[in-house]
Amino acid sequence: MRKRQIVKNVYWMGAVDWDRRLFDSLIPLPDGTTYNAYLIQGSEKTVLIDAVEPELVEMLMAQLDETSRVDYVISQHAEQDHSGSIPRVLARYPEAKVVTSAKAKSMLIDLLHIAEDKFITVVDGESLSLGDKTLKFIFTPWVHWPETMVTYLEEDRILFSCDFFGAHIASSDLFVTDKGRVYEAAKRYFAEIMMPFRNVIQKNIEKLAPYNIDMIAPSHGQIYNKSAWIIDAYQDWAIGSPRNVVTFPFVSMHGSTRKMVDYLTASLTERQVRVELFNLPVTDIGKLAMSLVDAGTIVIGTPTVLTGPHPMAAYCAFLANALRPKARYLSIVGSYGWGGKVVETLAGMIPNLKVEVLDPILSKGVPSRNEFDALDRLADTIAAKHKESNFKV
Ligand code: FEO
Repeated sequence: MRKRQIVKNVYWMGAVDWDRRLFDSLIPLPDGTTYNAYLIQGSEKTVLIDAVEPELVEMLMAQLDETSRVDYVISQHAEQDHSGSIPRVLARYPEAKVVTSAKAKSMLIDLLHIAEDKFITVVDGESLSLGDKTLKFIFTPWVHWPETMVTYLEEDRILFSCDFFGAHIASSDLFVTDKGRVYEAAKRYFAEIMMPFRNVIQKNIEKLAPYNIDMIAPSHGQIYNKSAWIIDAYQDWAIGSPRNVVTFPFVSMHGSTRKMVDYLTASLTERQVRVELFNLPVTDIGKLAMSLVDAGTIVIGTPTVLTGPHPMAAYCAFLANALRPKARYLSIVGSYGWGGKVVETLAGMIPNLKVEVLDPILSKGVPSRNEFDALDRLADTIAAKHKESNFKV
């Protein structure tokens, strides 16, 4: 992809990674991704905002062929998918300085061994004049690292947001054209890396409120030339009320747990509670994470393996604990052959979840009428709790 003009003297650069299917060796990327850098040519100074994943640096270097001078490289985030190519940019433009926060400077020195004299540090709210264009740096910590900041181009009212509002979608579109598709990808992205920082995200959104933002240019995905909807979506995901949804990840070995899962799903459905089921051995973890963004209740279904939960259920509990969703209730259902400590083990794995634990239901082998009746009671409880809490549909 060649460099592309966004507005006069402001360009998209970077790499479209159509092939990538896994991020951080963890997160499925069904639609690939992009690593966006941005070139701004002021009347006096030229700036590159962020860089690209080092594996794709040649794309960026080719786009920079027509650029004879870069005065500043703005590093908004020290994670290497944006910063890892900065040393190559500095090698081509030895006059360039890296403009970043003091915290990010220290991280970039540690992570990339950039020489200390290459940096200019800025403080929150500081401005940098490029002549006829002005950049303002706004610190937005924990979206999703401690040093993250965004950059506001005052004259063109563009917010360069790095990971904040990002979406993993490879596309030849410069701007968002398919809002539904981008909404889903941005929600997946939020679920996987932003959700643990929900409260700080809300504060960062409030901090952006005074700025008149025409466009948001993230470092993954396409540019939002209508930005209000993605800010509203982030607010909903971060602090909106949970929904009348049960996220129900499960795994079954001999079918007993599956019978309980199916029964509880039917009971909840009869009580107008929406259920999102995830059979863990074949689940896209990103879809599960997206469901956790909205869920009022999480129920984990697991058989007993060697006295504890099935390892896939344990992985799911570990993931939910790390993502810190806003669910208010949690329960466990499952089966065992001769004994075990499934409930104690799983309960000990979720200290970060601020949930009320509803009575777990375990069946010795194939569930019988007693367990089915208990599942009906659990469905009654969940439906009543969701109603009391006014969870939205
Ligand atoms: Fe896209 Fe946190 O890096």
